[in-house]
Amino acid sequence: MAKMWAGRTAGATDKLADDFNSSISFDSRMYRQDITGSMAHAAMLGAKGIITSDEADALIAGLEELLNDIESGKVIIDLECEDIHMFVEQLLTERIGEVGKKLHTARSRNDQVALDLRMYLREETETVVSLIKAVVNALLKTAKENKDAIMPGYTHLQRAQPITFAHHLFAYCMMLLRDIDRFCDMSKRMNISPIGSCALAGTTYDTDRYFEAEKLGFDGVCMNSIDGVSDRDFCVEFVNCCAITMMHLSRLSEEIILWTSWEFKFVELSDAFTTGSSIMPQKKNSDMAELIRGKTGRVYGDLMGILTVLKGLPLAYNKDMQEDKEGVFDAVDTIKMCLSVMAPMIETMSVNKENMLRAAQEGFINATDLADYLVKKGMPFRTAYKISGTLVSECIKRRIVLEEVTLDEYKTYSELFDSDVYEEISLQTCVAKRISLGGTSQASADAQIEFIEKELNK
Ligand code: ARG
Repeated sequence: MAKMWAGRTAGATDKLADDFNSSISFDSRMYRQDITGSMAHAAMLGAKGIITSDEADALIAGLEELLNDIESGKVIIDLECEDIHMFVEQLLTERIGEVGKKLHTARSRNDQVALDLRMYLREETETVVSLIKAVVNALLKTAKENKDAIMPGYTHLQRAQPITFAHHLFAYCMMLLRDIDRFCDMSKRMNISPIGSCALAGTTYDTDRYFEAEKLGFDGVCMNSIDGVSDRDFCVEFVNCCAITMMHLSRLSEEIILWTSWEFKFVELSDAFTTGSSIMPQKKNSDMAELIRGKTGRVYGDLMGILTVLKGLPLAYNKDMQEDKEGVFDAVDTIKMCLSVMAPMIETMSVNKENMLRAAQEGFINATDLADYLVKKGMPFRTAYKISGTLVSECIKRRIVLEEVTLDEYKTYSELFDSDVYEEISLQTCVAKRISLGGTSQASADAQIEFIEKELNK
């Protein structure tokens, strides 16, 4: 069949070139945005008298029917078409006749595709944000149940200071709340309408770009037609937001993988979110967490892909820009899948408080508190630090812990030691006394819960 753009050329391209050029296999997922956008365009053309209102009505009715038919499965998208925009216009014209040919007045596929993609991504952004919220809720719920679970906090993956498991999970809540904020912020810049920019220079018709923008729920219009068709910052920003969220999910996944290992045994995943081995009967693997960690690489790749496609592109539209979609769609699909798995995986995992506490009891993670004990009795911190370190070294040699050093022995290091030292270096005290803002104390836990809940309900 001759191309819709046949004229300048006969429109008969090589089959290989057709396949190479075609984007319908992936841009067909924007059919709804494409048709809705076209309905608004037809309405604007009618309202401005560029076509008659009868013509506008015919276009809108035809488009509506087409949308219903695609949605109900009555119409199957023809993958032989070049792209979704061509498919819709072609089928519409087949169905409603000559008037269908008026739809593309005062627009171009260049502004049309930019419009569709913005509309598609703003919807997906909402979905992603609600999925992130579900993960935050799962973390929050688990944290609330583990406000008293003491575990070692780590630096350099070495046991460092006692914290509660809740405090550790709140840290992930904070990251994910920032992600939500980032998506919402990006979405403000995305929700600006490019339609009416036409091919690149605007149009000679007396159009009303605000009419269309408003009808489609945009907050404004792109003020430069060249920018309107060339800008894909919203894609970069969207995938960037995805990449950062995936990085957070990946860090959490890594910890889940560690925590479920025999070396830690801090948590156990429910059977529903683990797999076995085909050969080793004892295995219970954290494949879901590993996949989330692995898929983070894909999304980073998507980000590099879109940045690289845009780098060096002269204004305005270039066909290179068709390459924006697959990476962006891949990022959408990947992040949605990962978030959807993460939430129930966390909700259904069981926490082994005893093992966490046991790990906290080894590793001298109260050594800072021992030093602080002396500081509070008047010793300079660096001197106290030295004494605490020497005591730790002595304990390691004798295979005992700080709690087992007798008061007499303590006194040989400093006269400031007294019987209250034991209370002071108990793990419970270490946690309870971290009362500084944002610390691991109970009061701080309550404040964090309040903060997170407020942010979620914003
Ligand atoms: N399929 C194209 C894309 O995804 C639509 C825009 C085509 N515009 C053009 N001038 N060839 O970018």
